[in-house]
Amino acid sequence: MLKFCVVGAGFIGGVHVEALAKIPDAKVTVVCGLVEKTAADLANKAGAVWETDYRQAVARDDVDVVCVCTPSGAHAEVAEAAASAGKHLVVEKPLDITLERVDRIVAAARQAGVKLTCIFPYRFMGGTALAKRAMDKGRLGRLVLADAYIKWFRDQEYYDSSNWKGTWALDGGGVLMNQGIHNIDLLNYLAGPIISVTARTATLAHQMETEDTAVALATFPNGALGVIEGSTASWPGESGRVELHGDQGTIALEDGRIVTWKLADSTPEEEKQMLDEVSLGSGASSAAGFSCEMHRRQLADMVEAILHDRPPAIDGAEARQSVAIIRAIYDSSAKGSWITLS
Ligand SMILES: NC(=O)c1ccc[n+]([C@@H]2O[C@H](COP(=O)([O-])OP(=O)(O)OC[C@H]3O[C@@H](n4cnc5c(N)ncnc54)[C@H](O)[C@@H]3O)[C@@H](O)[C@H]2O)c1
Repeated sequence: MLKFCVVGAGFIGGVHVEALAKIPDAKVTVVCGLVEKTAADLANKAGAVWETDYRQAVARDDVDVVCVCTPSGAHAEVAEAAASAGKHLVVEKPLDITLERVDRIVAAARQAGVKLTCIFPYRFMGGTALAKRAMDKGRLGRLVLADAYIKWFRDQEYYDSSNWKGTWALDGGGVLMNQGIHNIDLLNYLAGPIISVTARTATLAHQMETEDTAVALATFPNGALGVIEGSTASWPGESGRVELHGDQGTIALEDGRIVTWKLADSTPEEEKQMLDEVSLGSGASSAAGFSCEMHRRQLADMVEAILHDRPPAIDGAEARQSVAIIRAIYDSSAKGSWITLS
């Protein structure tokens, strides 16, 4: 039985508690939040104790794994404290908001010899695995276009009611760093690594520091081209899409679920089978619009990785890539030039 501490008793902290309750080899023993009542309420739901100081929480003997569910720009400090206390790390996306902070987390985990994963729920949809297999086998032929579209909606209240969303200091960006990262990660996983980007970002329909709308062009290793488009001002909000087009086929996914499977070498039976997966929701129209099932799958993978001493499905180096792409997009928009990812 692995004992978990959830740090950050907000929206996603609640999702971690709900998901961990469904994993036989996991138990939440500690919940940590800045506000005592919020931490106590979630702890009571989990049958756990609560703390208000993350340093004390992560150092407790009854903790093996720490879920870092604090605002995105407040992941590194919690992760470093947990790693130096010898605890395994589950960090919410993005791993953190700058490459310097991301690298601190990766280094802390490596030095402490603990496992690190970063949450990317769509990776745990069946469609993602099927698309990855088709890509690895070259079933699309020569890849020519690979795109991610994140046309979501958040009202002004979403930003006004939070002390960190839409800020550079703690969200590290707007639609791309917070919402778009899920499908940018999928695009890069399936068709990448993305080699270079050029972009424009804008804040068009919200009062906020960071972008609510962005468009980028991307290049891929074989010369293929792609588009990344994101907005949180696109009412009513549509499922995020990744589209992969080659000269022998097209695959499109919505939130990790296959919605188009047209391959020159596939049969009608295979096409039908590919379209069978049930949507687990996306958060396209509101932050609360998805089930905890994808989190359960990723947390169960981490539990197995720890118990059987194998790498988790998504490690720190992989989670770093989407942050690098998004930082390059911001850099490109500021400079008006192409940015090459190193
Ligand atoms: N994987 C997903 O689908 C998904 C969905 C939503 C949010 N997230 C990520 O989860 C993280 C949190 O987002 P949220 O929507 O839950 O935010 P939230 O504002 O609802 O909750 C964050 C909580 O962290 C607490 N907190 C801040 N600093 C703390 C500290 N030092 N110690 C303890 N608690 C602290 C805050 O008081 C707040 O309760 C972000 O990184 C976000 O990107 C991921």
